[in-house]
Amino acid sequence: MIKIVTIIGARPQIIKAAALSRAIKNFYSDSIEEIIVHTGQHYDANMSQVFIDELGIPQPNYNLNIGSGGHAKQTADMIIGIEELLQELKPDFIVLYGDTNSTLAGAMAASKIQIPIVHIEAGLRSFNRTMPEEINRIICDHTSTLLFTPTATGFNNLINEGFKKQNSLPYNADNPGIFHCGDVMYDNSLFFKDIANEKSTILLDNNLVEHNYILSTIHRDNNTDIPERLNSIFNAILEIANKENIPIVIPLHPRTKKLIDTNLDKELLTELKTTKQIVLLPPVSFLDMIALESNCKLVMTDSGGVQKEAYFFNKPCIILRSETEWVEIVKEGAAIISDADKNVIISSYDKLKSLNHKAFPIIFGEGRAAEFICRTVLEASNCI
Ligand code: UD1
Ligand code: UDP
Repeated sequence: MIKIVTIIGARPQIIKAAALSRAIKNFYSDSIEEIIVHTGQHYDANMSQVFIDELGIPQPNYNLNIGSGGHAKQTADMIIGIEELLQELKPDFIVLYGDTNSTLAGAMAASKIQIPIVHIEAGLRSFNRTMPEEINRIICDHTSTLLFTPTATGFNNLINEGFKKQNSLPYNADNPGIFHCGDVMYDNSLFFKDIANEKSTILLDNNLVEHNYILSTIHRDNNTDIPERLNSIFNAILEIANKENIPIVIPLHPRTKKLIDTNLDKELLTELKTTKQIVLLPPVSFLDMIALESNCKLVMTDSGGVQKEAYFFNKPCIILRSETEWVEIVKEGAAIISDADKNVIISSYDKLKSLNHKAFPIIFGEGRAAEFICRTVLEASNCI
């Protein structure tokens, strides 16, 4: 039996963790003990607990309750809390997801006391170091022992940074193992799609008609915190909603909810709040989100996860960023990078709205990434 400590903290990590917890419960409960540590980075019920309840993730064994704060204080408090727990729990591995401050804190704490790191969603790069996430993921990758990439591009990025695919057992931080295994979020989307469409009433509740609404999410700091960019995005959204007479559903991240009040021009804010075709919602549950994604006409987002889920459900996507880590979806013609440019957002909509909804090629694995990860972790610890 091996012991792993899984760190969760931000919304997407909680959702990603569901895939591994499910694989452990279904196939590896005799060989893997999972202890879940929530950093408390996200704490509103609709940013955290809703996913734990809905997706069948075991209740976290510990919650550090760190909450919001500047990068340094938030990360430092997490490092202290995680180190104390790792010293007490002495796990065989720590499992880290993605690229948030919770990921970085886990990497910093574990690497200094020689707890081997498993990084899930390794190798992704935006090649934009002004993004806090880019720093977090590079540091986490370069302190990890087992790295699992969701895409071939992620794997190649690691090779380009000096990781060697010929490394073999026994793995450690100086001899890390890299594996391309597909995306745990693809596992989740396949698993939860039918459940979502059976259980979710979100379309009905908001009078939405299948294939006749746009789904949008915005939360990146360089969109929410820079007034010109935020105004430009919401101007485009309003123009499309009015011109096309199509509802645009926007589940608002708490960061965005706060910042539209201060950073949007007053007139635009009023128009946003009073236009009938704009449906502003609080953050929605994952099942509601999957229902929204799988039934919409098109997605406009700056979220990493939502871009990819649009692809899983064969929906075209406008990426409200200057670059993406998920370059495959752009290469396939399924998504266009618009950045925060109003004119490009509108012209991208015009290009994508009539895209023939054929199935996009499969590039995120077979939906069994989590099982592969469990098996590989066990092999690395000599338990298979
Ligand atoms: C974080 C991640 C980002 C990820 C996103 C997922 C970092 C550096 N950023 O960004 O990579 O895409 O999560 O959603 O780790 N807030 C609440 N309630 C909550 C959580 C946050 O009100 O439950 C508000 C607070 O005002 C907080 C702000 O949102 O200051 C930002 O939260 P934070 O976790 O710092 O960053 P995110 O923008 O959520
Ligand atoms: N998500 C959700 N409810 C929402 C918005 C997003 O369940 O209101 C899910 C979404 O389906 C995806 C994940 O949260 O699985 C993405 O998280 P987010 O956009 O916050 O972060 P990112 O992926 O950009 O790091």
